[in-house]
Amino acid sequence: MKLNQDFIRKTNSPEETLLFGEEIAKELESGDVLCLHGDLGAGKTHFVKGIARGLGVNETHVNSPTFTLINEYRGSFPIYHFDAYRINNDQEVVELGVDEYFYGDGICLIEWPEKMKNFLPENSVHITIQKDNESSRIFKFEHNGA
Ligand SMILES: Nc1ncnc2c1ncn2[C@@H]1O[C@H](COP(=O)(O)OP(=O)(O)OP(=O)(O)O)[C@@H](O)[C@H]1O
Ligand SMILES: [Mg+2]
Repeated sequence: MKLNQDFIRKTNSPEETLLFGEEIAKELESGDVLCLHGDLGAGKTHFVKGIARGLGVNETHVNSPTFTLINEYRGSFPIYHFDAYRINNDQEVVELGVDEYFYGDGICLIEWPEKMKNFLPENSVHITIQKDNESSRIFKFEHNGA
């Protein structure tokens, strides 16, 4: 990711979150892993839709991969959209073959990353989305280390 500083950003509507995702998409590079933290309904999937739109994917194809756990979209990069909500243990993560994705050339966008915490690459970008009020959300970007 070209942006490598921690920062905070607020959006005031779902559409603004889509636009923010499009903006962030421009900063992404092959191999980036973005961990999207936040409660149910925080806006993780909305943000993914915006990023996908920014990478040339029709966002109507973008939905939480609740049953499959990983959705793949073809944009200007391969995009791997994870929803780890239903993961129960590390064995299930191993069975998904996450390393192929996490250390590959695509872009990984992970909802409920804490479920895969033992497998996330060191240089993942952590984004925490907090509900501010009904229609506004606060996005906090954190890069660990290098
Ligand atoms: N500023 C905002 N940005 C994003 N979503 C917003 C905003 N304001 C309100 N919302 C609403 O919050 C909800 C966000 O839903 P979304 O599916 O993106 O959440 P999620 O974090 O992926 O939840 P889950 O953990 O269930 O997958 C939507 O209903 C959306 O309309
Ligand atoms: Mg979601």
